[in-house]
Amino acid sequence: MAGTLYKKPILFAVVVTVVILIGTVVMMVFPMLTPQMHPKLANLKPYTALQLAGRDVYQENGCFYCHTQTVRPLKAEVIRYGEYSKAGEFAYDQPFLWGSKRTGPDLARVGGKYTDKWHYKHFNEPRKIFTGSNMPTYGWLADHPVDASATEARMKALGFPYKKEEIDALKDKTKLDALVAYMQSIGTAVPKKPKPPMIAKGDKNPLVGDPNATAEGKKIYEMNCSACHGVDLKGDIGPDLTDKEWVYVAEPIGDDTLFFIIADGTKKDQEFEGRKAKGGMPSWGEFFGKKKIWSVVSYIRSLEEK
Ligand code: HEC
Ligand code: HEC
Repeated sequence: MAGTLYKKPILFAVVVTVVILIGTVVMMVFPMLTPQMHPKLANLKPYTALQLAGRDVYQENGCFYCHTQTVRPLKAEVIRYGEYSKAGEFAYDQPFLWGSKRTGPDLARVGGKYTDKWHYKHFNEPRKIFTGSNMPTYGWLADHPVDASATEARMKALGFPYKKEEIDALKDKTKLDALVAYMQSIGTAVPKKPKPPMIAKGDKNPLVGDPNATAEGKKIYEMNCSACHGVDLKGDIGPDLTDKEWVYVAEPIGDDTLFFIIADGTKKDQEFEGRKAKGGMPSWGEFFGKKKIWSVVSYIRSLEEK
C-alpha cells in the first residue's frame, strides 16, 4: 500500500496535508484551548489606562529595537536583571514585547527600580545619567498629550476593565507621563526575592584610614552615583550625602547601615536605625561586592560634614 501511495502525487499530497494538520491541531489548538497552558500570576493586574497608553508609546517609538523585556533563566542574566521571566507575567501583554535585541539593557524588571523623577531625567537626557549612553532623548514626548479615546478603544478591544474617571484623568497627561507609568508597572507581578545580607549588623569598615579605598570609592561614585546624588554629593534625585542628615534624621548613622543602604537599596517605609526610608535608592550589592561598597562608604565619610 505504502509503495503505491508514493506513485499517486495528488493522494499523497492530501494524506501529507491531513497528517500535518493533525500535528498542528495537537501542537497549537489543543494548548490554545487548555487553560492551564495560559497561566496568570496571582498578583498580576491588567494595565491601567495610563499604563496601557504608555505601552502604546513604547511600541510607537520602537523601544523594543534596543530593549528586551524577558530575563532568560541563565545565571548571568538573573544576577544582572533579577528573577527570570515567568509565562504567567504576560497574560495582559497583547502582543508581548519581549524583543530580541539588547542595545540597551533588558527592562523586564525595571518597574520600581528607579523613582519617577529618575525616569523623567533619563528620558530627557540619557547622557546626564550615563555619559556613554546611545539612547535617544525622548523629552519631546512631554509636548504630546495622550489620546484618551484611542486608549479607551484599546481597553475595550482587549477586554480590560476601566472606569470613566480613569479615562477622564488622561486629559492632562502627556505621552511621557504615560511612558513613565508603564515603566513602573513592568515586571512588578513577580516579587523580588530577598537576598542574604552581605555583612553582619555592627560590622566595621575594614578599609578605614586606607587612602586607596577613598580614591577607589570616588571613581565608583562618579560612575554610578553622581547622576542621582550630584557630582559634588550635594543631592539631586537622591539626598545630600555630605550633610548630617541620614534617612531624613540629623543624627549619625553606622557604617554598617550605610553599607546596607548601598548594597540593598531602599524600599518605601523600610527601617534603618529606626528611621523610615521613602524608597528609590537602587541596590548595588551584586555589581560591586563588599570591597567596592566599603570603598564608597569611605569616600562618603571623607566628605561628610564634621
Ligand atoms: C538606540 C537604542 C535605544 C533605544 C531606541 C531606546 N533605548 Fe533605552 N537604553 C539604551 C541604552 C544603551 C541604555 C543604557 C544606558 C542608559 O541608561 O542610558 C538604555 C537604558 C534605558 C533604561 C534604563 C534601564 C536600566 O535598568 O537602567 C530605560 C528605562 C530605557 N532605556 C527605556 C527606553 C524606552 C522606554 C525607550 C523608547 C521610548 C528606549 N529606552 C529606547 C538604548 C536605547
Ligand atoms: C537612581 C538614583 C540613585 C542612584 C543611581 C543612587 N542613589 Fe543613593 N539614593 C537615591 C534615593 C532616591 C535615596 C533616598 C532613599 C530613600 O529615601 O529611601 C538614596 C539614598 C542614599 C543614601 C542614604 C542617604 C541619606 O542621606 O539618607 C546613601 C548613603 C546613598 N543613597 C548612596 C548611594 C551610592 C553610594 C550610590 C552609588 C553606588 C547611589 N546612592 C546611587 C537615589 C539614587
